[in-house]
Amino acid sequence: MLPTLQEQFSLRRFNSFGVEARARYFCRVRGADELAALAAEPSLAGLPRLVLGGGSNLLLTGDFDGLVIKVEVGGLRELGEAGEAWHVEVGAGENWHATVERLLALGRPGLENLALIPGNCGAAPIQNIGAYGMELAERFDSLLAWDFETGQPVRMSAADCDFGYRDSVFKHALAGRRVILSITLALPRQWKAVAGYADVSQELKARAIQQPGPRDIFDAVVAIRRRKLPDPATIGNAGSFFKNPIVSRDEYRGLIAHHPSLVGYPLSGGRVKLAAAWLIDAAGLKGATRGRAGVYEKQALVLVNRGGASGGEILALAREVQDKVAEKFGIRLEPEPVIV
Ligand code: EPU
Repeated sequence: MLPTLQEQFSLRRFNSFGVEARARYFCRVRGADELAALAAEPSLAGLPRLVLGGGSNLLLTGDFDGLVIKVEVGGLRELGEAGEAWHVEVGAGENWHATVERLLALGRPGLENLALIPGNCGAAPIQNIGAYGMELAERFDSLLAWDFETGQPVRMSAADCDFGYRDSVFKHALAGRRVILSITLALPRQWKAVAGYADVSQELKARAIQQPGPRDIFDAVVAIRRRKLPDPATIGNAGSFFKNPIVSRDEYRGLIAHHPSLVGYPLSGGRVKLAAAWLIDAAGLKGATRGRAGVYEKQALVLVNRGGASGGEILALAREVQDKVAEKFGIRLEPEPVIV
């Protein structure tokens, strides 16, 4: 059945930056049959589509002259053991953090490093969410999506999703074409703490915890995030606005010679991932304010809406950050959120 279409719909409450933008059409979808009905609706033919989860990795820079589909597929179902993992299927519209917490309470740990990441489960694969030493890809079995071109549901493996650092096929070849309906998580049957990330190990040490259990990691990650990252409910933001840039060993050597305190993490193959927050901070932009947009005081990688900012204002600040960092370090930062 065709879901109710709302016209000239305000998206302000549906993007974590809290910017105002209107959708020509907006609808909520709870299953594949509703997507099929949307695809068959002549008045929507040829219109651009934007699939919305929690709206927490999105910058709207103007009104959207098309159809916004808000995915609200719910449910959590244990599928049983498969090899070394427990498989759990979760509806795309379920809130990510609530799911992490619920699985922990059900005795299915394995996602605690990813606690408090805003957004819904269906959005998690799109940017391969990651934090504190873990990425979704490491806890992922498959997903069920609906394909607008074939009009059919399709199951996709991790290989099909082509996960990278904050990246997947959904940001490229399949952008706007497939709608994620549910994800199947693979949670380790033999749980082991992932506590190597400096912030996490320091937090555990401060709490005098030597042998952390899942709940300890969960509590530590929640505490770190609350301290460093703004809560979108009070300060509009989309988490890290830029990806951490990856440079060659030679580039890294050149940079560190001039900037000895530069923060970088070695990757395989000799490449180095640089802390974009450090670059922005060193370019003097931490805490900057331009109109109603700003660079967060406690984490320079996060752009914030200081109240009533437009998407254009936030984008202009993002460009300034890119330009200043490029000028000082010769590196062009790449935005992480989807910019529409
Ligand atoms: N730093 C600064 N200035 C700052 C903030 C940080 O110099 O204002 C330096 C610190 O010295 C620190 C380094 O930058 O050593 C890295 O900072 P942090 O550990 O906070 O992590 P990040 O690299 O800035 C990434 C993710 C976050 C994730 C954290 C923890 C990206 C783009 N961001 O941030 O993800 O929570 O690591 O794993 O990879 C997100 O994607 O939205 C997000 C919040």
